[in-house]
Amino acid sequence: MHPNQRNRRLRQSPAIRQLVSESQLTVNDMMLPLFVTEGTQVKEPISAMPGCYRLSLDLLQEEVKSVSDMGIKALLLFVMVDDALKDNKGTEALNPEGLMQRAVRKVKTTTPEMVVMTDVALDPYSSYGHDGIVEKGKILNDPTVEVLAQMALSHAQAGADFVAPSDMMDGRIQKIRTVLESAGLTDTGIMSYSAKYASAFYGPFREALDSAPGFGDKKTYQMDPANRLEALTETLRDIEEGADMVMVKPGLAYLDIIRDIRENVEVPIAAYQVSGEYAMLKAAADKGWLDHDAVMMEQLLAFKRAGANLIATYHAKEAAQLLA
Ligand code: PBG
Repeated sequence: MHPNQRNRRLRQSPAIRQLVSESQLTVNDMMLPLFVTEGTQVKEPISAMPGCYRLSLDLLQEEVKSVSDMGIKALLLFVMVDDALKDNKGTEALNPEGLMQRAVRKVKTTTPEMVVMTDVALDPYSSYGHDGIVEKGKILNDPTVEVLAQMALSHAQAGADFVAPSDMMDGRIQKIRTVLESAGLTDTGIMSYSAKYASAFYGPFREALDSAPGFGDKKTYQMDPANRLEALTETLRDIEEGADMVMVKPGLAYLDIIRDIRENVEVPIAAYQVSGEYAMLKAAADKGWLDHDAVMMEQLLAFKRAGANLIATYHAKEAAQLLA
């Protein structure tokens, strides 16, 4: 009780505050999502994501070198697919010469130390903009899982270190693990988007990849934002099926979920600070309403405090620079 206990004693100087700090953010915690497109010397701005671009492979190569020099250890790759290549089954996703497969090979050849994680979901390849195969207005689970497993295999064969299924179909982790094992790709990891919510925060990303659903929404496969216990069920099942890392997505509005999962699992947890979160801060900072860098670092630290080990963030480069 006061005056014997004075909480402010531990806050009096930067040195004391650092000594008793409970969470640290480092460059090792961050994964940078990058968008890839066809062509050469292409660098297309994404309007709701200032500072993010769709890059052609040649520029991707340069970007990854500089990102690696900043100390960033991991990338999440996403591809923009030509409309002419899209169909209901996401056939192009399995093309060994597809954009994703070429992107992985390029990055791993020029910057082998970079950990490459690939997005596994049909939406950028789907003529319906859905994460699975569509039949009579429904998203089919098991036939989709078959394609996702072949897609993951193809990414692994191209050299991906981790495949990252973001589709939320049931049973896909088990199927992917089985297919990778039978192909002898025992070292390829799986980072599962385990608790991925049906969120309006993905808007800018869908613009970036032109991947918005053509009809309906994603609520029959992505989770209801009202649910908390279900996130744990999803995550535990993914771990049982063979996920090496799990993820909660979106980030800031779901810190309680990160904490719940932290208290119940031992595997590394990733948080995905998604496009809409990034867009909100950029817009507010642009208006002079928020101090961009201070808010960015506070948000990133909040993921660590909540219990995340890794953070997928479009701010990775900016944060790495500030931390250096
Ligand atoms: C695709 C996918 C999405 C995101 C990552 N992978 C979009 C979606 O599920 O509709 C969103 C990422 C972001 O908003 O930054 N399955």
